[in-house]
Amino acid sequence: MPSVPTVPSVTSVTSALPVPPVPAAPPARVPRYTLIQLSDVHLVDDGELPHGGVDTHANLESAARAVAGSGTAVAGLVLTGDLADSGSPAAYRRLRAVVEPLARHLGAPVIYAMGNHDERTAFRRELLGAAPATDSLSTIPCDSVHWIAGLRIVVLDSTTPGYDSGHLTDAQLAWLRDELARPAPDGTVLVLHHPPVPSPMLVVELMTLRETDRLARAVAGSDVRIILCGHAHHASCGLLAGIPVWVSPATAFGADLLSPAGRARALRTAACSRIDIYPHTVVASVVTLAPADILFDNDESDMARHIDQAATDDGRLTEQGRAACS
Ligand SMILES: [Fe+2]
Repeated sequence: MPSVPTVPSVTSVTSALPVPPVPAAPPARVPRYTLIQLSDVHLVDDGELPHGGVDTHANLESAARAVAGSGTAVAGLVLTGDLADSGSPAAYRRLRAVVEPLARHLGAPVIYAMGNHDERTAFRRELLGAAPATDSLSTIPCDSVHWIAGLRIVVLDSTTPGYDSGHLTDAQLAWLRDELARPAPDGTVLVLHHPPVPSPMLVVELMTLRETDRLARAVAGSDVRIILCGHAHHASCGLLAGIPVWVSPATAFGADLLSPAGRARALRTAACSRIDIYPHTVVASVVTLAPADILFDNDESDMARHIDQAATDDGRLTEQGRAACS
């Protein structure tokens, strides 16, 4: 009986073919720096609840627990203004009692920026450790420069006492241009409370930064990689001179960007931001801390009052305050 030739199985045929190389996994993209941005904390004295009953201190504690519990390697905590609801020294002390233990736990610095609800003298004394003799500096902005390894954080104080809108003086812009003339190894993060981009919410738009074009000229072509702001109580991103602008949501409460026409509604939301800085890009993300209910709802007459106030503020600034701001 003739022998039957062996027929290779399908398996042996296919295994004889050249095996295509398995593509290597892309290298993990790990941020070089992760910043946690806490904005618009609006703390008050112990026992008080601002804005119709929101526990801003509990919201801040919630943020601190979330950050500490995540195990995230945080390079810095950046607080972008409205840290005390009415500039009370006791509120700043409550803030430090939450934020500074968190910073020690993380091994990260805390960087404080002024907001329009803050008060410079108490801010300097309670958060920056300034001596009482510096009380006379209340008209001088709290601008500062911080370094986290090769990353530079430049803080601009965009407040003017007595105004809710944002302003930068000629001297501040000159100081900024001089600082940015020397690039940082890993670039610069610019921090200021008032966004230099429009807000889709009228009541916020009336109070954004006034010197937007001049700030754009100061940062154009610099090593600023992102501009971090607060003030709006809603998350937004935009561009200034081609640089990303991140407007952080607030830990205190949120602005409802879909408020009914002519109204301005606030929500019981609490959120913060994480800013991940990679060698090739920067990513800003919202970290939600609480669910949303309506906190307050400004009706049309409230809105008319806001508009009148904004118009009055601009008039006052033009006639009386411009000299003090320059
Ligand atoms: Fe605020």
